[in-house]
Amino acid sequence: MITVNPVTPDFVAEIGDVDLSRPLSAADIADIKQAFWKFAVLIFPEQALSAENHIAFAEQFGPVEADRVLDTKSGPNRVDTRFSDVSNLDATGKIWSEDSRKRMYKAANKLWHSDSSFRHRPGLCSLLYAHTVAPVGGQTEFADQRAAWDALPEAMKRRLEGLIAEHSIATSRRLSGFADFTEEEGRRMSYAPQLLVRTLPETGRRTLYVAAHAGRIFGMPDADGQALINELIAHVTRRQFVHSHRWRPKDLVMWDNRCTLHRGMDYDDLRWVRDMRRTTVSDIANSCEQEGVALPV
Ligand code: OGA
Ligand code: MN
Repeated sequence: MITVNPVTPDFVAEIGDVDLSRPLSAADIADIKQAFWKFAVLIFPEQALSAENHIAFAEQFGPVEADRVLDTKSGPNRVDTRFSDVSNLDATGKIWSEDSRKRMYKAANKLWHSDSSFRHRPGLCSLLYAHTVAPVGGQTEFADQRAAWDALPEAMKRRLEGLIAEHSIATSRRLSGFADFTEEEGRRMSYAPQLLVRTLPETGRRTLYVAAHAGRIFGMPDADGQALINELIAHVTRRQFVHSHRWRPKDLVMWDNRCTLHRGMDYDDLRWVRDMRRTTVSDIANSCEQEGVALPV
């Protein structure tokens, strides 16, 4: 039987007495899922995971994304396309150079975001596994969009109900200063409408759903929509809703992209090796489709 040790009352928990490198019993999987829907961020310490173990566990939650936006023009990949390479290493395993394209592209991970909210079928959850961690900095911070929703004034809740935002990877890259996408990347770059407030089917909890990828709100002047999104991100990421995770090697951390934001904290990436790999599992459908809301044209 797994153990669930709350790190915070209802946002982050550490899961013990489980070895994710082995096939799990149906009961353990059910218990992990139940904990996941309650907490939204789960930490599994001391896991010795092969790439296949990591994928097999992720697949318990749905299909693992395999298409990546960044072109091979940035150099060959260190890991296969089912993983996002969350490291500061080049293909030969050396620390990347200051002007590396991958470094520019990944800088957007330092903005508060939700993985793949720019895809029509957005990210359900992500699972990030640490091989090598930086001794200083490099934490990952998580913000609880459910608690942030609960804390909003009723008048604001009424104003937000039914609004739809446009999420695009181009928006977050523009914010972080990366614009020189190749033509091929431009074609692969997607944008998607997503509800600004959504319901989590497993618990019925309502949650905000904003991210640095969100650039405008349908039916609003662009500047007003962006201002509202910025205001909401500032609200969601107030310290009372945020947990900071300090990584240890062999941590696997999974989070619910439907109701959390996360960001990577700075570290001296030209000095220390930080080597982590992420899988992202796709949600069952677009957030509008899941709630029967017509997609904007
Ligand atoms: C990610 C991500 C932040 C970090 O893997 O999706 O945003 O701390 N990572 O590396
Ligand atoms: Mn991310």
